[in-house]
Amino acid sequence: MAQPFHTISAKDLEFFASLLGKDAVLAGGASIQSYARDYTEDLSFPPDCVLIPGTAEEVAAVLAYCHEHNIAVTPRGAGTGLSGGSLPVFGGVSLSLQRMNRILHIDTKNFQARVQPGVINEVLREEAAMHGLFYPPDPASRGSCFLGGNIAHSSGGPRAVKYGTTKDYVLNLQVALPDGSLIWTGANTVKNSTGYNLTQLMVGSEGTLGVVTEMVLRLISKPVYTILLLAPFANPVQACKAVNEVLLAGFQPSALELMEESGVRMSVAATQTPFPEHPDTEIWLLAELDGNHPEALLDEAGRLFPLLEASGASEVLLADNETLKEQWWKVRRSIGEVVKSVSIYKEEDTVVPRYALPELMAAVKEISTRYGFRAVCYGHAGDGNLHVNILKDQLSDRQWKEEIPKAIREIFEQCKALGGTISGEHGIGLVQKDYLDVVFGETHFALMRGIKQVFDPKGILNPGKWV
Ligand code: LAC
Ligand code: ZN
Repeated sequence: MAQPFHTISAKDLEFFASLLGKDAVLAGGASIQSYARDYTEDLSFPPDCVLIPGTAEEVAAVLAYCHEHNIAVTPRGAGTGLSGGSLPVFGGVSLSLQRMNRILHIDTKNFQARVQPGVINEVLREEAAMHGLFYPPDPASRGSCFLGGNIAHSSGGPRAVKYGTTKDYVLNLQVALPDGSLIWTGANTVKNSTGYNLTQLMVGSEGTLGVVTEMVLRLISKPVYTILLLAPFANPVQACKAVNEVLLAGFQPSALELMEESGVRMSVAATQTPFPEHPDTEIWLLAELDGNHPEALLDEAGRLFPLLEASGASEVLLADNETLKEQWWKVRRSIGEVVKSVSIYKEEDTVVPRYALPELMAAVKEISTRYGFRAVCYGHAGDGNLHVNILKDQLSDRQWKEEIPKAIREIFEQCKALGGTISGEHGIGLVQKDYLDVVFGETHFALMRGIKQVFDPKGILNPGKWV
């Protein structure tokens, strides 16, 4: 690709240092290497420099300068993204929000949190919990990912089956635009029927329209008790059908996760975490119930046991202490990360209407057999959101580069045919952009380009990604 942007000069660095202070400008050498990567595959694109502003006004001033001088700007949270959204593919500025990491206010009267984008998801969850409040979205990377990045991708996580994803908790966003203006997109209200919904336009826009500099998030009351069940299945498609049985029977689990045995064992080995074993197991279902009345919860779990057994579970286990719960969740949350250490891989984030999950699982199995690759499937079964990690293993470079993209395209075509789409929570970023035509037609692309043009006429924000 030709470099359409201005390469950063010593004069630009001087300006940034005068604006932000010397310590907030990193250029050259080892200091910028970690900003060249995120959690996506083995990709690496070093920026020309890293800027670390401390205020919304500084972010806006950086954007105004870059807009004027045609400098590419790639916003960056914690770098835990899985679609390459924060990779500076054209160099330029990596704009890190890491210093804007304060919880500004927990409004216990309105159940809201006002926070900066560099706050770690888990930090907000813990602070909210101290007030008896709950911020449900909890991606696997919740211990390190930033809330700003969660907004950029509308991140989900296991609790989405009951509580929804990030988009359901965003009330109002302060956004710095490429022309240097700062706006609030909405209001601090649960309801808002006032004009175009710019708040939700920002959610999932992956830093291509503006940079979120502050946010008002919705909180809810924190459920007091949880019960965690684990069930092995010999057949992945049957396990997907069991997920439907659970939901159709009227249960409202707070998590309903599937994880293939192969992924479980990789995670167990890498994290040295104890986990049950069961012969002939291909996949595990992890089901969490939550609530405020322990007896009602136990009663619910008592009804879930026989239903799971009747739906094909080989057995049903109950985590009867907190340590077991933590261990099972640790194994689940670590799968995505540990697969990386096993092989070069590609992670797909397929999503279908949840009742179609058995068909999606069957299609993934058929495609993986036909193309001859190993896939580790896991994810948020209750949302119809299946992560498919394709391992390179012994595949040749040619197969990896030429055949696997065809297989991925077939998987995505199945998603589309089933009424789904190509990403549920990881976003499009860099690595999925070549598949967008599976779900978008020319009209759709034209609308997206039009929106981009209005917000970012020179295309300086997160260039080289999907828009
Ligand atoms: C997970 C991440 C990869 O569900 O989305 O573990
Ligand atoms: Zn996930």
